[in-house]
Amino acid sequence: MAKVKITETVLRDSHQSLIATRMTTEEMLPALHALDEVGYHSLEAWGGATFDSCLRFLNEDPWHRLRVIRDNVKNTKLQMLFRGQNILGYRHYADDVVEYFVQKSIANGIDIIRIFDALNDPRNLKTAINATKKEGGHVQAAISYTTGPVFSNEYFAKYAKTLEEMGADSICIKDMAGLLKPYDAYDLVTAIKSVCSIPVQLHTHDTAGLASMTVLKAIEAGVDVVDTAISPMAMGTSQAPTEPIVATLANTPFDTGLSLEKLDVVCKYFTKLREKYLASGQLDPKVLKVNVNALIYQVPGGMLSNLISQLKQAGKSDKLDEVLEEVPNVRADAGYPPLVTPTSQIVGTQAVFNVLMGERYKTVTKEFKGLVRGDYGKTPVEIDPEFRKKIIGDEEPITCRPADNIKPELDTLRTKCAEHIKQDEDVLTYALFDQVATKFFEKRDIGDKINAALANTDAKYHVNIHEIK
Ligand code: CO
Repeated sequence: MAKVKITETVLRDSHQSLIATRMTTEEMLPALHALDEVGYHSLEAWGGATFDSCLRFLNEDPWHRLRVIRDNVKNTKLQMLFRGQNILGYRHYADDVVEYFVQKSIANGIDIIRIFDALNDPRNLKTAINATKKEGGHVQAAISYTTGPVFSNEYFAKYAKTLEEMGADSICIKDMAGLLKPYDAYDLVTAIKSVCSIPVQLHTHDTAGLASMTVLKAIEAGVDVVDTAISPMAMGTSQAPTEPIVATLANTPFDTGLSLEKLDVVCKYFTKLREKYLASGQLDPKVLKVNVNALIYQVPGGMLSNLISQLKQAGKSDKLDEVLEEVPNVRADAGYPPLVTPTSQIVGTQAVFNVLMGERYKTVTKEFKGLVRGDYGKTPVEIDPEFRKKIIGDEEPITCRPADNIKPELDTLRTKCAEHIKQDEDVLTYALFDQVATKFFEKRDIGDKINAALANTDAKYHVNIHEIK
């Protein structure tokens, strides 16, 4: 039997899940050579929320981070997470932006692009898949895993087969909420493997304490690659810890071939960093404890905390149970979208309105209208036409691929941010997060001016953009 391969998530999902994506490039840098020495299948190192976080909170150029990682990781494949037609942002972008983003990601060092869509609408992955293939990258097409009446193993296997036919080089089961239970994982991997001939990878979270067991059962069912995080940055809302999985599989047909000694070098570095995060309060021990709410309510942990804070703001904390009962109703009305960004927020907020207004759909959010209209793509189950009419009235539903309605926008974007462009990639940064990007560019301009002035003097001092507030 083939050996199991490991994707290490410490540079992306692990810190996104534990410390709100705040690990800096400077904190990553000392670990990169040790990580490269381990012999992982890949390092998940970019994309997801890291791009936004670099600009918004860390005053870092995300493209610079990618180049630094690539310069220091010579042998291991680098992997990123990509939200289909949303790229790394929160709306649908025109195809020319998606294509250019993929081109620049690969040119700056990405090998594998994991592409997913919140609604599992394959049309929303099409442009990103084709662009990745054109640039010579590895397309890993991901299934957003969720539970509900329509989400059978047949549904997921059929979707995986569609993605394989669209050109995927591998399939990822993306269990973003940590809902996938060990025996269900066994059956799901078996079902996908029975129809697909490309490798299958598992991504899950340890929020409900299931991850290591789920990973193990998936491996027994023949999964090819699993996502894990080095132990100091694992468990809780993060991934299963790497070292126990490696130790468990050693001297079995699933042996990863990785050395615990080499992993220990990585572990030692991140242990120090974990202590720093705990001391600063960035790592809240609450996120490390087993939380079975996701299994009870079938909502992701992040969505639950959003609902709690929305109700608290409205002074209606006592309505939480009612809202949690309303979520499945709203989700059914909306055609059973998997609950992941952005659908988790859309469904959750609408459920809050339904309960607080005392009447269902008396107030409908703009985003919920959009979801029902088809702005985000095709929902897993067709929305009842009568319900749709109740929500959007006589407006025409969108049945085509939503991005077909978006004209090319790269040139307009370039004009809008022309004064700030210092590298080709800047237009993409601006495309995704215009206001946040502009603020970042302004600080970068100030830093460059000061440094240019200092260069003409005897000053040994060099201004770092992080110091500019
Ligand atoms: Co994840």
